[in-house]
Amino acid sequence: MRVTTRPIDGQKPGTSGLRKKTKVFMSEGYLENFVQAIFDATGGAEGKTYVLGGDGRFFSADAAQVIIKMAAANGARRVIVGRNALLSTPAASHLIRLNRTDGGIIMSASHNPGGLDEDFGVKFNAANGGPAPEAMTEAIFARTKELSRYFLADEPDIDLGRIGAQQIGSMEVSVVDPVADYAALMETLFDFAKIRAMFAGGFRMRFDAMCAVTGPYATEILEGRLGAALGTVVHGTPLPDFGGMHPDPNPTWAHELMDEMFGAGAPDFGAASDGDGDRNMVVGKGIYVSPSDSLAVLAANAHLAPGYRAGLKGVARSMPTSAAADRVAEALGIEAFETPTGWKFFGNLLDAGRATLCGEESFGTGSDHVREKDGLWAVLLWLNILAERKESVEEILNAHWERFGRNYYSRHDYEAVPIEAADGVMAGLRGQLSSLPGQVVEGMTVAAADDFAYSDPVDGSVSKGQGLRVSFTDGSRLVLRLSGTGTEGATIRLYLERYVAGPEGLTEEVQSALAPVIRAAEALAGLRARTGRAGPDVVT
Ligand code: G1P
Ligand code: ZN
Repeated sequence: MRVTTRPIDGQKPGTSGLRKKTKVFMSEGYLENFVQAIFDATGGAEGKTYVLGGDGRFFSADAAQVIIKMAAANGARRVIVGRNALLSTPAASHLIRLNRTDGGIIMSASHNPGGLDEDFGVKFNAANGGPAPEAMTEAIFARTKELSRYFLADEPDIDLGRIGAQQIGSMEVSVVDPVADYAALMETLFDFAKIRAMFAGGFRMRFDAMCAVTGPYATEILEGRLGAALGTVVHGTPLPDFGGMHPDPNPTWAHELMDEMFGAGAPDFGAASDGDGDRNMVVGKGIYVSPSDSLAVLAANAHLAPGYRAGLKGVARSMPTSAAADRVAEALGIEAFETPTGWKFFGNLLDAGRATLCGEESFGTGSDHVREKDGLWAVLLWLNILAERKESVEEILNAHWERFGRNYYSRHDYEAVPIEAADGVMAGLRGQLSSLPGQVVEGMTVAAADDFAYSDPVDGSVSKGQGLRVSFTDGSRLVLRLSGTGTEGATIRLYLERYVAGPEGLTEEVQSALAPVIRAAEALAGLRARTGRAGPDVVT
């Protein structure tokens, strides 16, 4: 069935797909236009196979029916969909690669809350399993601006609860177990026997799935295959509104886990994951592991897991992520890459075999096993390392800092700022960049200041305007950028870093260790002054 439509404004994919309020996605033709633009801008769906799934948030099941009917009407050959339209983002990436499909559509707004009044999102992943590269998202956006029709099969709904093959017109819909293939992949990377023995020896863990998609994955893998005590996984049932939780695994939103890990009788290891399962937070007994440090520790110890025994080819991190991983890469004698924010920028490095591990300060870590960051994978790699080293998280972190020095790190977010005020903050700092080098701010001398531009070492593509950065001669740094995933006003992200070589001063409180950099940021960018805010909304 051909349905007449007209272009809808603002269907521009951001850092990770198109994210809008759920009601916007539910409005007439909104989802349909965007999905049709995906098909049209990627050479049409004729004869193609796609993976489909998402984090189970409100509207996912209905959206899945629409996407399946559109794929059928556009001539696709097959859609592989997770039961009940569930697939974690890394599991979707794996299925795309395992089945050599032409790509996949992921229904998620990641760590944003879900529900009728919250957020929804749609993201296209290419045949390599990774988020559509910029040229592709631009082509999709361009197509949304000229659409005049979409195609939708006039057929009854598919039974998404029934595993197996069904037919819609001449297209096959294969409903698959969302967990099985992913769990099998994890068994090839990690020493399950050794981790199982650690749990059998009394090792205690808490995994907070935050009522989102990783519940079934974590329950099957941790409690099922690795023998962790029943009840290790909490909030393990995916709910359309995430049970009212904000499924973002950071100390602010995963506060229940933090309280437990810092309380009396804390388990040995704690972890949480986000809405769609690509983010992770890890916590030891009484000690928090910052994502930048986690990446560095994983890079330094990955060879302890069977999947990485041959060593790493390189390590990549997003520009705002701390330089801790660079120090490990240097010690290992491997390449270190600094990319713009967003997982799509790691794709080329992974495909070209130049990077094995990648990470972002925003609780994202992953490897070349898929083309997305992968929360549960990071947790399993930590477990494998803990099982091999037989030390606590605290001991491992302290030893790491003693060897490499410590990059104190924090991110301050100012959320839902009026767009003009946010633009003013950015313009204010941008205007000073060229005159900053040599200036002394809060006792620190500026070494360099620029607006980060990235030239992809694999395909030569250039991405400009990726964040304002000011680095100081003592190794401290501040970075300012606007979020590309929000759905309300602007979110200003201020990234702060300070390096201490040790052996003294390695265990200071993070915000006080960063105090001079925080003051320098305020002096240069006037965040509080310009936004009228007393301080950040979220500190991670
Ligand atoms: C945020 C994070 C970024 C991550 C993205 C998707 O994007 O900062 O690292 O890749 O979410 O999970 P932002 O809102 O900053 O554009
Ligand atoms: Zn996510």
